[in-house]
Amino acid sequence: MQPLKHQEISDSILAKMEKAVLSSLIKAFPETPKEQFIVEVTKSTQDAFGEYQCNSAMKMAKLLRAAPLQIAKKIVEVLSVEDEAIESCSVAGPGFINITLRPEFLASYVTKMLRSKKFNIHAAKRKKIVIDFSSPNIAKEMHVGHLRSTIIGDCLARVFEFLDQDVLRINHLGDWGTSFGMLIAYSEKLNLDEKLELMSLSELVAMYRQAKTLFDEDADFKKQSQLAVVALQGGDKRARAIWHLLCEISKKAYKEIYDLLDVRLIDRGESYYNDRLGSTVQDLEEKGLVTVSNGAKCIFLDGFITKENEPLPLMIQKSDGGYNYDTTDMATIHQRIFEEKADHLVYVTDAGQSLHFQMVFQAALKAKYWDPDKVRVDHVPFGVVLGQDGKKFRTRSGETEKLIDLLQTAIDKAYEIVKSRNPDWSEKEQREVSKALGIGAVKYADLSGHRQSDYVFSYERMLRFDGNTAAFIMYSFVRANSIKRKVGVDVDTLIGNVKIELVHPSEKALALRLAQFPECLDACISELLPNRITDYLFCLAEIFNGFFRDCRVEGSLEQNSRLLLTECTARVLKQGLSLLGVKTVERM
Ligand code: ARG
Repeated sequence: MQPLKHQEISDSILAKMEKAVLSSLIKAFPETPKEQFIVEVTKSTQDAFGEYQCNSAMKMAKLLRAAPLQIAKKIVEVLSVEDEAIESCSVAGPGFINITLRPEFLASYVTKMLRSKKFNIHAAKRKKIVIDFSSPNIAKEMHVGHLRSTIIGDCLARVFEFLDQDVLRINHLGDWGTSFGMLIAYSEKLNLDEKLELMSLSELVAMYRQAKTLFDEDADFKKQSQLAVVALQGGDKRARAIWHLLCEISKKAYKEIYDLLDVRLIDRGESYYNDRLGSTVQDLEEKGLVTVSNGAKCIFLDGFITKENEPLPLMIQKSDGGYNYDTTDMATIHQRIFEEKADHLVYVTDAGQSLHFQMVFQAALKAKYWDPDKVRVDHVPFGVVLGQDGKKFRTRSGETEKLIDLLQTAIDKAYEIVKSRNPDWSEKEQREVSKALGIGAVKYADLSGHRQSDYVFSYERMLRFDGNTAAFIMYSFVRANSIKRKVGVDVDTLIGNVKIELVHPSEKALALRLAQFPECLDACISELLPNRITDYLFCLAEIFNGFFRDCRVEGSLEQNSRLLLTECTARVLKQGLSLLGVKTVERM
């Protein structure tokens, strides 16, 4: 992963502080070439030390041949007057610099956020971003791994779209290969072609199991299956028609899940690249990258070895002449860079596929399909979902849980909670809120941990109203709105007419946190980590609760200024949740 810092959002406060530090360095050390400066600014860990902290002096002692303390003092002299946002800065410890912002600056920053639809966030440049996510396999059920890919991929897509990037959401369905030969041959053998039309995905999965058993036991059937693959690839009419049916049945089942999750995808499965596989292999051969090993065409790459210390190849053509997952991904990366003209490729799959992608990327580099100076390419790996027993998540029967059931259970459990909290509501409202809460809880729980960690799936925990959960954030939004409602002033009329005053420390803390929304999004996209957003929202909601505890809104002298802070909080919470794919409700 190549973190691109502040490429997309240049007007965050953090980016502003970095700019101020850089120009102070240039002024304080005019003899040093500008490229050599190390600009390091972070958020402060403690409020008492100001809002931001600069660690550049520590990092540049060697370069400038001076003690960090001396360097820090020189930086501070310039920095304290460098930017209108800075109230003061001071040196701490061996050479840290603490930066305190002017409350007026924070207040006007929040006002600007309120005045623009997109919180005054401007993305640097519109780029084409291809996000490959979800990508289940036809004639199989979607499993929790695909759920994670769907939720994480959708969140990243939403953030990029919010930043006005040109996003292509691709569902790289596993819709090609040997298993289809098996199904096509099996359907012929058992005369199922007619019945197929009415089958559900579960029936298809059962049929696949039977076909596979036969395939493993019966040499004749194996042969027929292989011929069926050839027929399919050659465009045989019946084979294509059956294959098409299999895809339709599966996609219908997936659609139910996507609709429930409110996720959009463009279906472009492995079959899409079929016509390009031959020419891809040929091209790689012509470039001298291919070695034949045990009859298979392989690309050997530096640094990839098996457990037995043997070189590990990327196999682009099997010894029987067939193409595979690796071949398809080579054709895919080429298509996305050259035809889609992507600036950034993102692949969201479980961490088990990391090696595959590292090899594909390196092969693409060697084949000159990918120029890292021009295109950013990321595999976005994630960990496993565990059951309460700490083992891979499964249902009682031992089968991998069907996703649709899992989502429905979350909604049902949310319904119990919503109903007991609000017995007087109409059934319709109870159902609506339960759906938002149930689905929101599943998504939030998935996104709120570091994506590479495994996590334990617990309905009970994800539906809690306290802690880092969807319910807590959704509820904070409801609360902010109810405060506004109670005061009864039309907040929109205050924006731009009433000045935000930050007097109480809780007001300042809230304004600071709100103003850090752009840098939270910047961190999310540079590291491709959705939990940067959940962490941010959780902290914002807690600070908002502190503000509400400490600062009376209704009837206070500061009422209107505080209403504006409340309004901005409500908007940021709603927007933040929407980037996670979580819906807000009016009451809970
Ligand atoms: N179908 C694959 C799976 O279920 C994921 C595909 C990911 N995308 C890709 N371009 N390889 O594991």
